[in-house]
Order: sequence, then structure tokens, then C-alpha cells
Amino acid sequence: FSCSVASPDGFLHCLRAKSVPSELVYTQSSSNFTDVLASSIRNGKFFTNATVRPLCIITPGPGDASHVQAAVLCGRRQGVRLRVRSGGHDYEGLSYRSSARPSEVFAVVDLGANLRAVRVNRYDSTAWVDSGATIGELYYAVAKNESRLAFPAGECSTIGVGGHLSGGGIGMMMRKHGLSADKVLDAKLVNADGELLDRAGMGEDLFWAIRGGGGGNFGIVLSWKVQLVQVPSTVVAFNIAKTVAQGAVEILTRWQDVAPCLPNDITLRVIVRGQQAMFQALYLGGCVPLVAMMADQFPELGMTSTDCQPMTWLQSAATPFLSFGTNGTLEEALLDRSTSLSRSNKIKSDYVRRAISKAAWEDIFPWFTKPGAGFVLLEPHGGFMGSVPAAATPYPHRNGVLYVMQYLVGWQQGDDGTAATAWIEGLYELMGQHVSKKPRRAYVNFRDLGIGENDDAGTFEGGEAWGESYFVGNYRRLAAVKAAVDPTNYFRNEQSIPPLR
Ligand code: FDA
Repeated sequence: FSCSVASPDGFLHCLRAKSVPSELVYTQSSSNFTDVLASSIRNGKFFTNATVRPLCIITPGPGDASHVQAAVLCGRRQGVRLRVRSGGHDYEGLSYRSSARPSEVFAVVDLGANLRAVRVNRYDSTAWVDSGATIGELYYAVAKNESRLAFPAGECSTIGVGGHLSGGGIGMMMRKHGLSADKVLDAKLVNADGELLDRAGMGEDLFWAIRGGGGGNFGIVLSWKVQLVQVPSTVVAFNIAKTVAQGAVEILTRWQDVAPCLPNDITLRVIVRGQQAMFQALYLGGCVPLVAMMADQFPELGMTSTDCQPMTWLQSAATPFLSFGTNGTLEEALLDRSTSLSRSNKIKSDYVRRAISKAAWEDIFPWFTKPGAGFVLLEPHGGFMGSVPAAATPYPHRNGVLYVMQYLVGWQQGDDGTAATAWIEGLYELMGQHVSKKPRRAYVNFRDLGIGENDDAGTFEGGEAWGESYFVGNYRRLAAVKAAVDPTNYFRNEQSIPPLR
């Protein structure tokens, strides 16, 4: 196989020869090519006239691995790279765009179009979920089948299962149940040789790598078998806002030591925006013990029973109370896939192991009133997360991590994003002295090309800057797995794991 000289016609011909139905392949001349490409783009800045378009988009049919296998075999034979897309939420758009220099010919394999089934087995509390399903669809299918079952994953219902589980999956139940990737029992993957493998077939090293090593590296995961978790019939959520005048700085300073040490049943996260800290919690229990726990362990927050909002777990996963979704029915909140290209965003991340001092927060807070300001989201670790050894999965940010910090900024169409970008870069620089260093850590699912990109040759050393930020000591093992399963580096992108030579 060779990827050196691309033959776009040869690729399309090869797909036809391998019986991939033409109605599942959208070329640039197809009338709905643009609609299909845009269907799950979440970041307007990656859908401009300057964005390089893929040669075509392949939308594999449900239950038929042969289309994906054909795409891989034809791609390798004809020198066409593949970008795999499930939910399209990659913060740098790596699932549907390529900024490779010299430019590469690439096609998109879009699993979100047709590969969306969720099959729940309530008797052994497991589910097989296709990569193209959203986590909202997974939540819905699970809880509608058995209301006491749930799945630990992120807070935005349109996130695709494929990318989310590939990179980890942090959310409001991780202190009790871990990452989404911690709950993967089996997977079906098409490797760089076009073979369809399950866990037994791929072996434990590759199975380790696909559970948190980041999407787009080792093959195309078609579906995942996941362990579901038990939840009470009613959970409690609350939202408590504190302004600086109401003591936000002091309470946030204290939160850093309290939240990671609370019982596993509660996740208490914070959004800092403007001159306010918003404390948001999900508690897997009732209001009475929650109020007692908060009075005992975090009296500074002043939480009372009037703050308690009892709901089902499914409502907590759907409601704008916790997520940033819209009002409406559960179905509207969890199953809606519509997207908007009118907003663009930039995200960065850090991990904090030593609480940031009150004096430092006093210096940081004024940043949230600067022009272009976004916000930060602080999500506590501890609990189950702290009990998992750093090498057990590729996600290394475990014991000793107080919280992950996500910096977010957005801007509307018509704005070039200069102020917003300057804001986030400036805050990130300011925070450097306060967060985990050597290497400065980041979360692969909060993809940030600002921390480094592969060199043209795709060397291990060229990827060290970003690789060690995301994976610390696990970067080398990921590169060794890559060398074993994809030695020619067919599945590559700006931040893909290079093979260890
Ligand atoms: P997308 O399809 O863009 O894929 C992401 C990456 O994985 C790409 O490199 C892609 O090629 C690869 N990939 C996709 N499918 C694959 C497959 N089947 N096999 C192999 N590789 C595949 N994260 C989090 O942990 N907790 C959270 O609460 C949130 N919240 C959140 C909100 C919003 C609005 C956004 C935009 C993002 C998040 N995220 C998040 C980050 C999210 O988990 C991350 O972007 C995921 O990779 C998205 O997965 P998708 O399948 O949607 O992305």
C-alpha cells in the first residue's frame, strides 16, 4: 500500500468495485454535499470558503462494516486519507477538515449519518452503541429501557459516542463511576488493514489504546459495548451563584479543596464568568442527606433545601439546569441533532493539583470582564477518578488531580474572533504559573492545536509536546501500539499518535 500519490478517481472507482452504494457516497458534485458536510459541524470557523473540502463523504450503512472496510482498503490503495466523524464536536474540526501541508487528498467517513443504533441489555446492564449515536441518544435509550440505569458521559447531548469514548468522556458522574472510556467492555474496530476486529481479535494493547488515547489514531471504531451503571430513581441538582461581592473568590478558593474530597455521589463543579462563580451539582441521592452533607463539609456555600431540585437522572442529563441545552421535552433536549454554524469557539484546558491561592484568584477574576471574555469550567476529580492508576487507561490525570479546567470562548459570525482569541490566550498564559506543569497538562477531548502539532514526518519526538500534555507517560505506550497496528501511519492528522520507531 502507498499513500504517496493520490488517485481520487481511483478511490471512487474502488468504492464502487467494493459495492459501496453510490447513494452513500457524496462527492463535491453531489447536490447535497454541502448539507451533509455541514450537518454536524459545531464550529463556524471551520466552515468557510477557505476550509479545504474533502474529496467525498462516505456515510456507511447501518450494520454493515463492509463499507468502512472498503473505505480503508480503497483509501490506502489509492493514496486517499480518511477523517472519521461521529458527532463532529472535535474542537479543532479534525474529523472533517485537514490543514496538512502539503495538502492531502482526504475523504470523510461520517458514522453519524446512519450508524446510530443503541441496543440495551437490561438483564446484564450493558449496551452496544454505534459510534454515530450521540450521547443524548444513548442516555435516552438506556433510561427509557430501565429508568434506574444510566451511563457516565459528558454534558452536551449532541456529542458523538465515537469521539467521546475514544478520548475519555468526563461528566457529572465521573467521581462515582469514572470516565465513559472506563466503562467500555468491548468494541468493534476496522483497523488499517481493513480488518474488522473485536476485543479478542485486537488484543489488549490496542483495546487499551482506544479507550482514551484519542480518536482518529488506531482505526475506525464502529460500535462499543459499555457497562451501564445504577442510579436512584430520583437525583438532586442545584445551581448556586455567588458574585464577587457575595464572596465568590473565597468560596471558590475553598471549593478547590472541598469538591474533590466530597463523597463520590456528588459532583460539584463551577463556572466562572463575569464577576460570578456558578456552583452546579448533581447528587445521586435525596435532598435531606445532601443538605446535611453540604452544611457539614461546605458551609461557606450556604446551600439549603430550597436549592434542591429533585429530578430523574435522565432529566438531569437533558436539562439546561446542568447542560447548555434548550428548554423543551426530554426528546427535544436529548435527541435533537440540529447545529448552527453562526458561532465559532476556541477551547483550552489545564489540570490543577495544588489549590490556587485566594490572592491569585483575586488577580484572575478581572480577566473575566475584559473585552472578548469567555468563561472557565472547573470539574472536580477525586472519588473513583483518583482510585484508577494513571497507566490503567491512556487518560493519565487521576490520583492527586483536584480538577480539570476548561477555558471556553465563543464569538458570532461577522466577528473575526480577535478579541476572544486574545482573551483566551492571555488567560492561558496567566494561568501557567498556577496549574500542573512539566509537562503542562491538557485533556485530549478538549482538543487544542495551540499546544503542538505533528511534524511533517510524523515522528514520535515531533509529537512529544502535545502528546505528553495529553497523555504524560502513556504517550510512549500509545506510540508503541500505533507502531504495531498502523506502522505506515495511515490514520494520521495534525495531532494523531505517531508510530514509535
Ligand atoms: P468528532 O466526530 O469530531 O470526532 C472527534 C475525534 O475523534 C476526531 O479526531 C475523529 O476523527 C475521531 N473519531 C470520531 N469518531 C471515531 C470513531 N468512530 N473511531 C475512531 N475515531 C473517531 N468532552 C467531555 O469529556 N465532557 C463533556 O462534557 C464535553 N462537553 C462538550 C460540549 C461541546 C459543546 C463540545 C463541542 C465538546 C464537548 N466535549 C466534552 C468534547 C468532546 O468529548 C470531544 O470533542 C469528542 O471527541 C467529540 O466526539 P464526536 O464524535 O462528537 O467528535
